Amino acid sequence: MGKGAYLIGLDIGSSSVKLVELKEKKGHPVLHHLGVVHLAPETIVEGTIIDSYDLINAIKHLISAHHIKNRKVAISVSGTPVIVKRLTLGYMTDKELAETIDWEVERYLPFDLSEVNIDYHIIRSDEEKNQLEVLIAAVKKETLEEYLSVVAEAGLKVRVVDVDAFAMENAYLFSGQREKNQTVILANIGASLMNLNIVSEGETMFTRDIALGGINFTKEIQKQIGVTYEEAEKLKTGGELDPAQEIIVNNVLETAKESLSSEILKSINFYNSTFEGNEVKEIVLSGGSALMNGIAEYIQQSLNIPTSIINPFEDVDINSKTVDIDLMEKTAPMFTVAFGLALRREKEEK
Ligand SMILES: Nc1ncnc2c1ncn2[C@@H]1O[C@H](COP(=O)(O)OP(=O)(O)OP(=O)(O)O)[C@@H](O)[C@H]1O
Ligand SMILES: [Mg+2]
Repeated sequence: MGKGAYLIGLDIGSSSVKLVELKEKKGHPVLHHLGVVHLAPETIVEGTIIDSYDLINAIKHLISAHHIKNRKVAISVSGTPVIVKRLTLGYMTDKELAETIDWEVERYLPFDLSEVNIDYHIIRSDEEKNQLEVLIAAVKKETLEEYLSVVAEAGLKVRVVDVDAFAMENAYLFSGQREKNQTVILANIGASLMNLNIVSEGETMFTRDIALGGINFTKEIQKQIGVTYEEAEKLKTGGELDPAQEIIVNNVLETAKESLSSEILKSINFYNSTFEGNEVKEIVLSGGSALMNGIAEYIQQSLNIPTSIINPFEDVDINSKTVDIDLMEKTAPMFTVAFGLALRREKEEK
């Protein structure tokens, strides 16, 4: 992948900010720090930073509580301000592509070209077949600037801005234990979004962010039981339940699993009907909502596709003096995006 020191992976999610720090030892990453700080539900709403003061303080707290010295970070964005698309074009040189990419991308954008920043990566270039496959990512400038300014105000230097779906893929592909030729769907189930990414032979085929996640389930519990959001969140994530509450929480979570499962199926069907290629052979879950009891079993049964939950740290060494092992063991899948970001380096070779 790259050269140079690892960046700090900082995943700014709508329910919490997650931090992962890796350090290199004998050419291999070692997990040095793992941290999370929760955000009030009104801090980030639908990907928009509402309370930047609160968010800046949360990030500062995370950095100082873990005695992080490195100031260089990788962050990521997701949701409606981000458009990811795989394009097949006629062959052209790198220079020609750089000159025409804006025009090629424009027709896929729900925004004006002047409102976005565009980045791209050449997947395959074949002059003989007159083919060029490119993966493009466009991010709304306004969103990007909000995130950059918050992170800068927290005293950090942004070196990489990634997309959640790609960071999850990076984390997935890092492990030597994956079947790299296979087609898989990765699903990062967070608080306000589920990021989906269909990966085939180590390349992104298709991504989609769906506005469905833990916040929806907590709000439903809040409504049905008549408690505060914070209380409902506790009841959902392992708090003590009386028998009546237990029935309600279980029902809400069953419905949640059904909705998530049906969204994953929709994307698989879309992929199968749009792309010629291999069938999706596996579903890999990550994100905090993947900690929901029995979710992998539910999805596997209802879609009849092998489903597992990722442990992003399975192939790295852990510094047990600096890492909160309990936090890691209980919530590892929640750190998948942060881990994918933490694998990025200051100087990268493509
Ligand atoms: N044990 C659990 N059971 C069910 N849900 C859980 C559990 N633990 C955490 N969650 C849920 O996971 C969500 C947080 O996941 P995550 O940290 O991946 O989201 P995020 O990155 O903050 O949000 P997003 O990326 O959607 O903006 C919360 O909604 C939380 O309620
Ligand atoms: Mg997230």
